[in-house]
Amino acid sequence: MKIAHSVLALLFAALASLPATAAVGDKIGDFALLDHQGRFHQLSWYGDQQAVVLFVQGNGCPIVRNGAPTLRALRDAYAQRGVAFFMLNPQPQDDRDSIASEAQEFGYDLPILLDEAQLVAESLGVDRTAETFIIDPSTREILYRGPVDDRLGYETQKPAAQNHYLRDALDAVLAGEQVAADTPEAPGCLVSFPAREQHASQGISYSQDVVPILEDNCIECHHDGGIGPWAMSDHRMVQGWSRMMKEVLMTRRMPPGQIDTHVSKPIRDVVEITPGELQTLVHWIDAGAPLDEDGQDPLAQRVYDNPKWTLGEPDLVYQVEPQDIPATGLIDYRYVPVELNLDRDVWIRGMEFVPGDRQVLHHVIAYASTPADKSVRNLRNGDPDRESVGGFAPGRQPDQYGDDTGRLLRKGTNLLLQMHYTTSGKETVDATEIGIYLHDEPPQYVMSGAVPGQRRFLIPPGAREHKLEGVEVIERDAWLYSMMPHMHYRGKYMSFHAEYPDGSAELLLSVPKYEFNWQLNYLLEEPVFLPAGTRLIARGAMDNSARNPANPDPQRPVTFGLQTRHEMFFGFTDLRYVGDTPESVLHGAQAAEDAEVAGL
Ligand code: HEC
Repeated sequence: MKIAHSVLALLFAALASLPATAAVGDKIGDFALLDHQGRFHQLSWYGDQQAVVLFVQGNGCPIVRNGAPTLRALRDAYAQRGVAFFMLNPQPQDDRDSIASEAQEFGYDLPILLDEAQLVAESLGVDRTAETFIIDPSTREILYRGPVDDRLGYETQKPAAQNHYLRDALDAVLAGEQVAADTPEAPGCLVSFPAREQHASQGISYSQDVVPILEDNCIECHHDGGIGPWAMSDHRMVQGWSRMMKEVLMTRRMPPGQIDTHVSKPIRDVVEITPGELQTLVHWIDAGAPLDEDGQDPLAQRVYDNPKWTLGEPDLVYQVEPQDIPATGLIDYRYVPVELNLDRDVWIRGMEFVPGDRQVLHHVIAYASTPADKSVRNLRNGDPDRESVGGFAPGRQPDQYGDDTGRLLRKGTNLLLQMHYTTSGKETVDATEIGIYLHDEPPQYVMSGAVPGQRRFLIPPGAREHKLEGVEVIERDAWLYSMMPHMHYRGKYMSFHAEYPDGSAELLLSVPKYEFNWQLNYLLEEPVFLPAGTRLIARGAMDNSARNPANPDPQRPVTFGLQTRHEMFFGFTDLRYVGDTPESVLHGAQAAEDAEVAGL
């Protein structure tokens, strides 16, 4: 039962009864959406274009279908002149698959942005499909709204258009002139906004509707002692941050590490905010983020226990050499060796990092050196495609294997940590700790890894989407447990695919917007079987252009390397080969070590 709040309901009613308000000259907020092929688009990324055209698409609308060829012709005519064309689908009755088949059937070859939460359409004041908008992508000002031309009406078509409104408006924009103001309203099919109506009539309860969404998606990091820079500790905090919350939600920056759930295999613990949750949060924020009438604030009553070790007391604890972190500036990766002093072979069942200063430690990847390589020299010299045996990133669960599964660390093995710091505005020292959890007995199964990746590449300066691919052939039957894309500042997206020996193929994971700041490990809900001969493929791209806000220097060509001025392209995985036993693995490891010592 939702509480009916009379005042609130009135407020929302006022909001919802407003006519389609966004007019020429208004600004809209930046936004990011996936298109019907799962690709990520953010309005501000097109900031170097002269204009962005959005055409409101909806399945089944005759005016949309008949208008599309004209739109495509305009796209072809203006593509070289700095105009990016998109369709935008806000219809609640359409979904990704039906939109893709409509696109196929009617030959739409433009990206169709999926506005599943209808929030972009709401901010544009969309009322009907087939309407077009011209937006200045750098100021995000609406420069034009109206029909493509006057050829199409309801059940009527003229042989040819007499007025080419969109074309004329584009010409005016490109010439730096004022767009004609006398455009008629665009005919098209009315779009329903059921969530907006429902929120308007029933209201949104802070304590019953909003807080649970924050608890599920945000509070894990945004609480006192958490890794977020501010805590959702009570209503006042959330209300004060609410407009910024809307911005990070609309641009899909938060929650971090979002995947394309439509094509990815089910992933454990991934924080995923649904279109319905987005609508609730944004409508509540737009209404001023009010407290309920009863004044209840569940956030203020929450208590957090922040246990030091979430996996329990470790068997072995190591202190990482404390790192001085300056107040500001970009910090290169640090490679910090950790001597494990293992006097016997051990089977680990988990590894957990406790950052000394959560505000600055952004990620750690732990590589194991072989016992023969005590100096960890090879790693430093650029040979990091050894398996990573664990890591830390905000929001990443500690590495933990099943009770029956372990990973071998041989006697004499040491760790080399790749540590990435971001500055926080004040000087600090980070003293991170590592906890290692051991099996008492050798486990039944052995975890290892495969790393499809690419090391020979040259990314030209300014390249917007330099595609890379890495393949690893899985030589023996194996089970895949987790995947972790790893690139540096220019990483744009990455997906993992399996091509099976029978010729079939499967998409396992798609991270449409890779974020260098979030080195997350994606654990499959159910392990995936990879028969011998499977090609495990990581596909992705680098953005070395000035459009990539993280890019340190778009003028430079970039090659493979360990530092952030270089790039990496690795798809780390955890997988377990069928038939591997502790004995067979120990035997193999010993043989490899003998070969290395002998200099083979
Ligand atoms: C996995 C941890 C994590 C989760 C989950 C998370 N955040 Fe954040 N959030 C952060 C961190 C860390 C930062 C600081 C980002 C930075 O410094 O780049 C941040 C920053 C922010 C900011 C400040 C804006 C900024 O530019 O840094 C807002 C607002 C925000 N988060 C909102 C949210 C909301 C809303 C949710 C839930 C829908 C959420 N966050 C979920 C970790 C998280």
